[in-house]
Amino acid sequence: MVSPGTNSLMFEILTPDQTGFFRACEKVAQLFAQREAEFGFNPEIDRPAVSMPEFLADQAGWVSSAISGDGPVTILTTWSDKLAPILRERGFAFRPIAWHAGPFNSGIFRREGAGRERYFELVNEEAPEIAPAHVLTIHDAHGFAGGAISALRDNAAWLAVMCVRPGMPAGTGSRLWEALVRDIAARGIGRLDLGTQTAERFYQHCGMQVTDRVIPRLRWRTAPDGKVWNDLVMMGIDL
Ligand SMILES: CC(C)(COP(=O)(O)OP(=O)(O)OC[C@H]1O[C@@H](n2cnc3c(N)ncnc32)[C@H](O)[C@@H]1OP(=O)(O)O)[C@@H](O)C(=O)NCCC(=O)NCCS
Repeated sequence: MVSPGTNSLMFEILTPDQTGFFRACEKVAQLFAQREAEFGFNPEIDRPAVSMPEFLADQAGWVSSAISGDGPVTILTTWSDKLAPILRERGFAFRPIAWHAGPFNSGIFRREGAGRERYFELVNEEAPEIAPAHVLTIHDAHGFAGGAISALRDNAAWLAVMCVRPGMPAGTGSRLWEALVRDIAARGIGRLDLGTQTAERFYQHCGMQVTDRVIPRLRWRTAPDGKVWNDLVMMGIDL
């Protein structure tokens, strides 16, 4: 389905049963990767590289080396079921992430402490429950101009990615958001959740609320009047 928007924007919505769905997801994911590179990481936060095969082969062993010392540590994970017994024993507090259609077993483990903040992201991007189920793309006279990929479950959506091409007129993201919400609401979706480390203010502008502020000042981008810091937050909205 392609529908003309105002200012010559065309909106296309596809589901996995439709031709072009996977190609559309690929285009959105590629653009997102390009846009994400505009954001730097806070050099004061230690983000050690995680080898997923090593973690999956021996979670207890991984934990032992990863959380050495007594400094502050945050672990965002979709393996909270596996990590809870190991990390609770080591004094970590746990709070689940209330994503209605996001990855199962999502949550945050936290140990307070003095010194340099350490942050680990142990997320199963390939989890079947977050396989893309809905993609919205926008197109203008120059072609592909942005899009959004969502997973859907039980009348809820989880927004994996949303982005627009650099240099698009202000307001393009808001129009993409409005088209997304209009379409998923028409499909009976009543809740939308996401996690973001680059666009809290944008989503707040869209009416979303922060449900968990995970890491303050994780990322930054350059704006005309200097550096703009972004927190890692979980957000949600009832539609
Ligand atoms: C997030 C994104 C889709 C928003 O699109 P956009 O066309 O810039 O959005 P709009 O022009 O409709 O912006 C609406 C408001 O949000 C603000 N905003 C947009 N992106 C923002 C960001 N990354 N950080 C803070 N504020 C942002 C705008 O300044 C505007 O606020 P204002 O009305 O107070 O001026 C776009 O900036 C983008 O592709 N960013 C890179 C990828 C990304 O971070 N995606 C989100 C994570 S999944």
